[in-house]
Amino acid sequence: MDRYPFPIPFGWFHVGYPEDFAVGAAKPLYYFGRHLVAWRDAEGAPHVQDAFCPHLGAHLGHGGTVEGCEIVCPFHGWRFDGEGANTGIPYSDRTNRKARLGTYPVVERNGLVMAWYHPSGEPPMWEVPEVAELGDHPDFSTVVRTGYRIDACWQEMAETGVDSAHFRFVHNTASVPEIESYVTDGYESDMRSSQKFPTPRGVMEGRIDTHAWGPGLSVVWFSGIIDTVNLATTTPIDAERCEVRFNFRFRTMGDEATTANVGRAFVAEVDKQVQEDRPIWEHKAHLVRPALADHDGPFTKFRKWASQFYAEGTAAGDERLVFPPPYWEDRMDEVPAKATASARNADPG
Ligand code: FES
Ligand SMILES: [Fe+2]
Repeated sequence: MDRYPFPIPFGWFHVGYPEDFAVGAAKPLYYFGRHLVAWRDAEGAPHVQDAFCPHLGAHLGHGGTVEGCEIVCPFHGWRFDGEGANTGIPYSDRTNRKARLGTYPVVERNGLVMAWYHPSGEPPMWEVPEVAELGDHPDFSTVVRTGYRIDACWQEMAETGVDSAHFRFVHNTASVPEIESYVTDGYESDMRSSQKFPTPRGVMEGRIDTHAWGPGLSVVWFSGIIDTVNLATTTPIDAERCEVRFNFRFRTMGDEATTANVGRAFVAEVDKQVQEDRPIWEHKAHLVRPALADHDGPFTKFRKWASQFYAEGTAAGDERLVFPPPYWEDRMDEVPAKATASARNADPG
């Protein structure tokens, strides 16, 4: 039985950093439940294609070579161009017009390589935005990157973004953030919120504003302790697992060392929050009809927005209202950090 009612969503997804793809090299990737090959041609353009050679199925990411603007199969030397067309067979005068490699549109922007995934190969429906703070911005620090592999689907993790009440209980924040607005507009969504942060010098008023472009890319602007921009990406490995990556830049404050120190503390706090969320995400059931209370976040609106990214529809033929995780025998002792803390408090010793 499927772990989730959701198939893999379509959109632009982060598949690597520019330096992961050297000119003239091919490498294997696995995203969207598919074996892929990524390569950068002699002119510097990155390509992402289905991995298996249509001739006899060799994996082009394991031994495939790049010659000029073509990738060459390691098995019998067939050649393919960046559009996926067969451009040469070393022992035949003719190419095979039917032998095509599935090809994913790719852009390199904001310091990321992003590929467009759609289950039936529809062309991109929106563009990857240019984020000013991630560009050549004089007021912001260099990028600090973090990344996680989470055994949960995109929607379950993204839903936590509108879940204001969990901050208090999972992350022990002093207060619940106040969602001032949550607006969805086509493939984009925008949330503005304010939150009080405890600091050694007292409680500080902060903001977290998030703009998403489809399921794969969002930008989070934090202000208060340190102005920070986080380019956050989620890439489905398959329908049950994701790779999450953060790219932080901090508005420079005072000298470089101060910015780096405060930035490091900020990244550590976000990292701690991900580690606190992780067991919740990985062990929770997806409830088709959650029981909500006043002041819960805009879950219904979020779910409606999210549903547009499933080209195959959701839960085809599955009538369940509860989608539990599998029984992971070796993971029975995993508990969220909060539960650990209260267990410690309850200890009379
Ligand atoms: S399998 Fe690729 S050329 Fe034969
Ligand atoms: Fe969280």
